Amino acid sequence: MEKTRVDFSKMYYGFPVFLVSFYDEKGVPNITTISSSYSLMDMVALGFGRKGFAINEIKKVKDFVINIPNRTMMEEIDFCGFASGRNVNKFEALNLTPVKSEVVNAPIINECLVAIECSLTDVIENDEYPHITNILAKIKGRCVAKELLDEEGHLIYESLDPVLYVGDSAKRAYRYTEKRTKNFSKAFLK
Ligand SMILES: Cc1cc2nc3c(=O)[nH]c(=O)nc-3n(C[C@H](O)[C@H](O)[C@H](O)COP(=O)(O)O)c2cc1C
Repeated sequence: MEKTRVDFSKMYYGFPVFLVSFYDEKGVPNITTISSSYSLMDMVALGFGRKGFAINEIKKVKDFVINIPNRTMMEEIDFCGFASGRNVNKFEALNLTPVKSEVVNAPIINECLVAIECSLTDVIENDEYPHITNILAKIKGRCVAKELLDEEGHLIYESLDPVLYVGDSAKRAYRYTEKRTKNFSKAFLK
């Protein structure tokens, strides 16, 4: 395949978007939008701009929740990704409901279908990337809406509706996934 070398300063090749919720140092619930992440087993890695309100509070309070929104929550995704918690309580501004997690000291966004409860374990700040804070966190619990679970309590993955972030340094956009899925994961999953 013939390729052209490009000079993008950023490239988002389809990252799931989610809402990170936490209680700030004063105990006030707040939210930020994130797309830089990966997860393996009971670990999740997230990437933040170093100056954001959420990351600087999470560094102090440690606990947070990853809430997975779907395409019905575009306004919330966008608002939490442009307003700063320094100036606004995003739960109140968006009329979202914080419900305290039973396993971490952080609020779950009641309106999202999936909540992943996390506790900070590592903060990685490297002079090579002076504007970025990466964190690792331990997953302490997961809560999934009943409508996403089958009779045996397994995830109905066709019903997940993640919103993906795509684009380059000039233009970014949201994409949705198809409901259709392929069942060939046995080849590489145990
Ligand atoms: C779709 C989307 C994805 C984003 N992903 C990230 C991200 O991965 N890391 C990050 O630091 N900021 C990300 N942002 C930007 C922050 O959400 C934004 O700077 C926000 O205003 C920070 O809020 P805070 O100051 O309350 O933390 C994203 C924004 C949008 C709209």
